[in-house]
Amino acid sequence: MGLLRKIESRDFSVAIIGLGYVGLPLAIEFTKAGVKAYGIDVDKKKVQQLQRGENYIQDLSDNVVREAVEKKLLIAETDPSVITQADVIYICVPTPFTPNKEPDISFILNASEATAEHLRSEQCVVLKSTTFPTTTEEYVLPILEKSGLKIGEEYFLAFSPERIDPGNKVWHTGNTPIVVGGVTPECTKVAAAANRVIIEHVHEVSSPNVAEMEKLLENIFRSVNIALVNELAQLCDRMGINIWDVVEAAATKPFGYMPFWPGPGIGGHCILIDPYYLSWHARSDDFVTNFVTLAAEVNESMPYYVRQMVLREIAYLPVTLKEAQVLILGVAFKRDVDDLRHSPALKVMELLTEDGAENINYIDPHVPQLELNGVTMRSLAYSEERIAEADIVLITTDHTSFDYREIARHAKLIVDTRNATKDAEGDRSNIRLLGGGS
Ligand SMILES: NC(=O)c1ccc[n+]([C@@H]2O[C@H](COP(=O)([O-])OP(=O)(O)OC[C@H]3O[C@@H](n4cnc5c(N)ncnc54)[C@H](O)[C@@H]3O)[C@@H](O)[C@H]2O)c1
Repeated sequence: MGLLRKIESRDFSVAIIGLGYVGLPLAIEFTKAGVKAYGIDVDKKKVQQLQRGENYIQDLSDNVVREAVEKKLLIAETDPSVITQADVIYICVPTPFTPNKEPDISFILNASEATAEHLRSEQCVVLKSTTFPTTTEEYVLPILEKSGLKIGEEYFLAFSPERIDPGNKVWHTGNTPIVVGGVTPECTKVAAAANRVIIEHVHEVSSPNVAEMEKLLENIFRSVNIALVNELAQLCDRMGINIWDVVEAAATKPFGYMPFWPGPGIGGHCILIDPYYLSWHARSDDFVTNFVTLAAEVNESMPYYVRQMVLREIAYLPVTLKEAQVLILGVAFKRDVDDLRHSPALKVMELLTEDGAENINYIDPHVPQLELNGVTMRSLAYSEERIAEADIVLITTDHTSFDYREIARHAKLIVDTRNATKDAEGDRSNIRLLGGGS
């Protein structure tokens, strides 16, 4: 097999379709191994930035991106015809849901069409976007078959889900084990070989369906466990028990348990969306995924719970909700990232605005500006005075750059949804902790 030999001798190139949180780090990992990467994106702004050697992904080093462009190892394009020049093509496009929370795989279909148009023999296509089982074989394969080439002999197709965890300082694309399942055993072999050039541990499975389902299991596992502690946090508030102490205590058990923490809800492009991909598909099998649905219900109720916490606290203040200065700390969907997609902080801000709050501001060093209900808001600069002025400080994301002891010292009142203020000393009477038992 010529392609396998080319990959094993590292004499090959890749094309990455979709240069976002997944695609650009993947492209850079290949360039670090000396493999030329053609990056393709429909977003002209991203492509132009890369062509100038500018990085836009927080976890990547600006120097590494610039060097890859200068050495012509990373070539960014909007024109998908460069696909013909690559040996292995990775599809890393978004998989959002519709307003009715049904899968939208149109980005995968468009990228597959573009690939089919430029497909030649001795190429391997690897789908990385998270999606429901059967996508690779029942949606992508028929599109690629239009090329007239023979799968498993002339070209290869596999699913290999992404596990990148933006903001994670330990685990990144290069050192996180990865799963791969090809349409035929030859497809698995070729795609696994390409992955092994940049990733040490590659786990081969029998089919794309197994790999697609495996990825959903990972994300549903997180969603269900987070929902469990979110439900218990609400119960603990009623019972006067601190859930954070409970989870910390349970985490001392060295086997059969791993800690998950409560919070204001889940966000991002994965844990919130992916479970719906499975529950949607299950309906066509006359099956109801109860765990998935219940977890989504609990997690998606959390911003509403936080809204109630804020409203209750404001009711005790000598200001109305309309007048109250509400200062949100951290709007990204999780700690130390700049990703706002489906952030629970935005949902809480939206709900409080609907309730009549007119003075909501936010501070987030990772998110200089955002759109809320069509209005552009800019992050305020952090200062002790700003904290002290606010009637209520709502901690929605616990970025490590904030000094929570200082915040606790200066704030009149804090609603803390992340236990960020756990180390605040002295009088903590100004702190209301989600799941804190009060
Ligand atoms: N972000 C994560 O942490 C993460 C982790 C694991 C898996 N995933 C999955 O990986 C996939 C990609 O996620 P992401 O966060 O990188 O998305 P993203 O939105 O950051 O990037 C996707 C890119 O694809 C581009 N694109 C869309 N259609 C295209 C087309 N037809 N041709 C070329 N480019 C196109 C978009 O312009 C965008 O730049 C999703 O399925 C997601 O669920 C994401």
